Amino acid sequence: MTGSRDAEPKIRAAGMADLHLLVALHARCFDDGAALGEPWDARAIAEILSMPGTFGLLADHCRTPCGLAIVRVTVDEAELLTIGVDPAHRGAGVGSALLWRALAAARSEGAKDMYLEVAESNRAAIALYVKSGFEDCGFRRGYYAARDRIPRSVSAIVMARETRDLSSPGNPGAVSAGSLT
Ligand SMILES: CC(C)(COP(=O)(O)OP(=O)(O)OC[C@H]1O[C@@H](n2cnc3c(N)ncnc32)[C@H](O)[C@@H]1OP(=O)(O)O)[C@@H](O)C(=O)NCCC(=O)NCCS
Repeated sequence: MTGSRDAEPKIRAAGMADLHLLVALHARCFDDGAALGEPWDARAIAEILSMPGTFGLLADHCRTPCGLAIVRVTVDEAELLTIGVDPAHRGAGVGSALLWRALAAARSEGAKDMYLEVAESNRAAIALYVKSGFEDCGFRRGYYAARDRIPRSVSAIVMARETRDLSSPGNPGAVSAGSLT
């Protein structure tokens, strides 16, 4: 882990005006293949952001944009479509801050539960989700095609948690921050 915990991450809403920043950040966050997600290009992110019920979040740490999350709310369910933190800022609470804000914002948009998929080999992300109150609720065999030299596929764990009661000790104060600034 490389980031400093001295500075508090700041989270704000992200939209089409932030498209190029979101693309650059997504590429940095998903560059090493560990997360098993492909970096999304501008067209992909623009299409996702234009889907009804979708919102983006950007994180600043030490005045540097360093993390993103994108969530889609459909009726009373939210899906965490992506979350990532620049490798240079990991371990500083940025991922947690993004996730808690995503939960609070999804709740204020009417979602009762949030779902996500994570590669079963992605230890850092699974630890973040478990710490934030997510529990396993499904398994998708061979969901990800791994991007390394050995052709193989990696299964995904489906995780979920309710959006009510965000008063976990792990929440760094973002509980009430449901509205996006
Ligand atoms: C997963 C990710 C978003 C975590 O971001 P982060 O800012 O480093 O996370 P935080 O600093 O808020 O850490 C919160 C908790 O997550 C867990 N965690 C984070 N990184 C970890 C690691 N490398 N190993 C084990 N646990 C880890 C810990 O429980 C940590 O709490 P602690 O610091 O009190 O021990 C980041 O590693 C990332 O962007 N990974 C690549 C993209 C990705 O995998 N996205 C998820 C796809 S499903």
